[in-house]
Amino acid sequence: MTDPVPSTGLQLLSRVTKDAHLEVSLIDQPVPAPRDDQVVVKVLATPINPSDLGLLFGAADMSSAVATTRDGHPLVTADVPPGGMRAMAGRLDEAMPVGNEGSGIVVAAGASPAAQALLGKTVAMLGGAMYAQYRVLRVAECMVLPDGTAPADGASCFVNPLTSLAMTEVMRREGHTALVHTAAASNLGQMLVKICLKDGIPLVNVVRSPAQAELLRGIGAVHVADSSQPDFLETLTAMMVETGATLAFDAIGGGKLAGQLLSCMEAAAVKRMTTYSRYGSDTFKQVYIYGGLDVAPTTLNRNSFGFSWSLSGFLLTPFLVKIGAEAVQALKDRVVAELTTTFASHYTHEISLVEALQPDVIEAYNRRATGTKYLICPHKAG
Ligand SMILES: NC(=O)c1ccc[n+]([C@@H]2O[C@H](COP(=O)([O-])OP(=O)(O)OC[C@H]3O[C@@H](n4cnc5c(N)ncnc54)[C@H](OP(=O)(O)O)[C@@H]3O)[C@@H](O)[C@H]2O)c1
Repeated sequence: MTDPVPSTGLQLLSRVTKDAHLEVSLIDQPVPAPRDDQVVVKVLATPINPSDLGLLFGAADMSSAVATTRDGHPLVTADVPPGGMRAMAGRLDEAMPVGNEGSGIVVAAGASPAAQALLGKTVAMLGGAMYAQYRVLRVAECMVLPDGTAPADGASCFVNPLTSLAMTEVMRREGHTALVHTAAASNLGQMLVKICLKDGIPLVNVVRSPAQAELLRGIGAVHVADSSQPDFLETLTAMMVETGATLAFDAIGGGKLAGQLLSCMEAAAVKRMTTYSRYGSDTFKQVYIYGGLDVAPTTLNRNSFGFSWSLSGFLLTPFLVKIGAEAVQALKDRVVAELTTTFASHYTHEISLVEALQPDVIEAYNRRATGTKYLICPHKAG
């Protein structure tokens, strides 16, 4: 038996207007009948990740947020500062659904055998628009979870698990033997610590407080460098020497850190050289910026990098397209097999769609602080 499907369900939308206002609203959205290869999923849990916050609030100044109502549903408005409007040009006046991933139960299915086979199953979903009570998706966009999987356990199957696994894939495919990771006490960072321990990959974790260092050591991290300490750069270089790391994934993006990673890798490589070269080492060093936790410009002082280095961006989806369906399936299979161990996400707060629009709640989850992950449960009352 599956739940009956109502004709409409709540959906969260984010819109930046041409006159520099953000509107985050809830609307009653019709639930369409599924086509042959589609299913209707009752969304039970969907996480709030930094990438969701980027779409949800855009460049708005959320300290100016004001809560009102529209058509009987909550509405939050906020100002977008003039400096932020340029980055909003591509989305002006468009009401955008939010929420990259989630989990739920298939409550209706199209006529195809593949869709019918999913009826009543618990699935994890990727494909956007998850901050909604119902989501219609193609069968291929669902990943079946073992019966009895709790919605919270299945909510974050894709974004952070696949990105952390992708980092180790990049390492192998690009010929590196160790990894460096920043903002390493993040949800994703803790997954990476567990993967690397399990797979025997040396990992240097960069954090910004003693509490974060302690947290990571508590789950088994061996190399932790704290950027708040005066000897940070010496410690980081020593860890580059010890691990031989020549590849880093930087979630922060802004400021000096990406350049410091390249400098410390080069300093470690120079220590391994037996003869001096004025061009520096010939060890290739790669830093990928894969997040924008600090929106300030990236500052590089390339004098200390040598000439064999690269700094580029990294995004999960194009990487998955590049490695192909078979390799992606292998990564997904590992996520399902280790869902409640390596890839477990912990949520400190479970909130309803209505609560997600309350300014005090927004202020809390928009801090993106270590160990305070919020989960939206679209059918929770209140
Ligand atoms: N490129 C991709 O395809 C991709 C895919 C998935 C995730 N990501 C990125 O992965 C990162 C981690 O995601 P998550 O969900 O694991 O994050 P999370 O659990 O919400 O944790 C965020 C972490 O970042 C730290 N942080 C925030 N602002 C910072 C700053 N300016 N400088 C240094 N540290 C800062 C926080 O520490 P405090 O407590 O000290 O604030 C916290 O430890 C995000 O940047 C996200 O965008 C990228």
